[in-house]
Amino acid sequence: MENRGSFGSKLGIILASAGSAVGLGNVWRFPTEVGENGGAAFILVYIICVLLLGVPLMVAEFIVGRNTHKNPVDAYRTLAPKTGWVLQGLLGVFTAWFILSYYSVVAGWTLKYLVSAVVNQVTTMSDSSAFFVSFTQNPWMPVVYMAAVLLMTHWVIVRGVQGGIERYSKMMMPMLLLIIAVLVVCSFAMPGTVEGLKFLLWPDFSKLDGGVLLSGMGQAFFSLSVGMGCLCSYASYFTDDAKLFKTAGSVALIDTIVAVMSGFIIFPAVFSVQEVAPDAGPGLVFITLPTVFQMAFAHVPLIGWLFAIMFYLLLLLAALTSMMSLHEPVTSFLLERFKMSRRAATWVVTASCIALGTLCALSFGPLSEVRFLFGMTFFDFFDFVSAKIIMPLGGILLSIFVGWYLPKSLVIKEITNSQTLHFPRWLFVGFFFLVRWVAPLAITAIFVNELLS
Ligand code: PHE
Repeated sequence: MENRGSFGSKLGIILASAGSAVGLGNVWRFPTEVGENGGAAFILVYIICVLLLGVPLMVAEFIVGRNTHKNPVDAYRTLAPKTGWVLQGLLGVFTAWFILSYYSVVAGWTLKYLVSAVVNQVTTMSDSSAFFVSFTQNPWMPVVYMAAVLLMTHWVIVRGVQGGIERYSKMMMPMLLLIIAVLVVCSFAMPGTVEGLKFLLWPDFSKLDGGVLLSGMGQAFFSLSVGMGCLCSYASYFTDDAKLFKTAGSVALIDTIVAVMSGFIIFPAVFSVQEVAPDAGPGLVFITLPTVFQMAFAHVPLIGWLFAIMFYLLLLLAALTSMMSLHEPVTSFLLERFKMSRRAATWVVTASCIALGTLCALSFGPLSEVRFLFGMTFFDFFDFVSAKIIMPLGGILLSIFVGWYLPKSLVIKEITNSQTLHFPRWLFVGFFFLVRWVAPLAITAIFVNELLS
């Protein structure tokens, strides 16, 4: 086990974990959800969920990984030998593999849009909806772009933890944060700023209903990457002096700032262009925004061109760091369980994801007629099964495992790094209350509601 590798610094730990959390979920899914759920009231619900559910569960996942320094399957096997809990580890690995396969499809779209932005297509296209449809229906282009982003992820993962994940997270995350800052400043110079900010910051509590509450919780989970094998697998490379609460808190803070900033980038632009509604749904980033960029910068096309390039580069960087965290648990599982070399294990994961992802990538075109339950395409089915079934289930099991199954002394030792006397008592009392009671009950509520809706 000595040559398993670990992160080299606390900054590396925070940036890699934040890289997992910050992804399409922040820049693409969050603004969409905000738009569809009425703005500021949703953001408030989201932040409460991050604090009460997301952070404690992230710490719970860190405990499992850091205590064992093993891949998710062996981590559960070690902490709960000869029990069914090993299935929880397997579920985590399987979910990561499954999510990676369809997440790469959307990540591939962002690469396509980045390329189109560079050759000045995004800000000059006459019909952004037709552009999107013709690209996603093409029988091979979406597959090529999906494979390209998977190969980029492969390039990082094959280099291991310090030379790959940590090194590239340390390069990509600061770049991403810088781009966001520049875009926010540009966006504030637009005519729709006041209206955009009002939509984002002024809570209209009449919009609050059960649906908004549940969407906020779902978004918090997805965005923080909790409830599956990713954070557990990263935590297995944490050093023994890494502070779990502090890391989880920093990751949640960075994740939330990036999500809200993405709203600050998108909505002032959207409100500057009268014809476009803020609740345009998932097409917001790929269909609405090209039109917005075009119209908002009609007088200064050069800035529109730069803005579009930076925006899609931001999306791509965010997607790649999340893909790394989805790839690693599966790779480390194959590597450690089947004694494969890192190179071979990485190839097995990349190749199988390309195969599976092809089904999703083509489900907007040649495979659009292949339908599952409730008429879902491959893509919808993958999204539904992972985000709405396996992730909540993983979250419930995780909270039961850490809250009820693991010895309390082990949990306390991990969160305090064995310095129990110097640790504020209210923090673990609060932690146990949230992990034992609030998390399992609240997630069960989301789960049941989402299945019924
Ligand atoms: N949190 C990532 C995002 O916001 C998605 C993700 C989910 C990554 C689960 C890893 C695990 O895009």
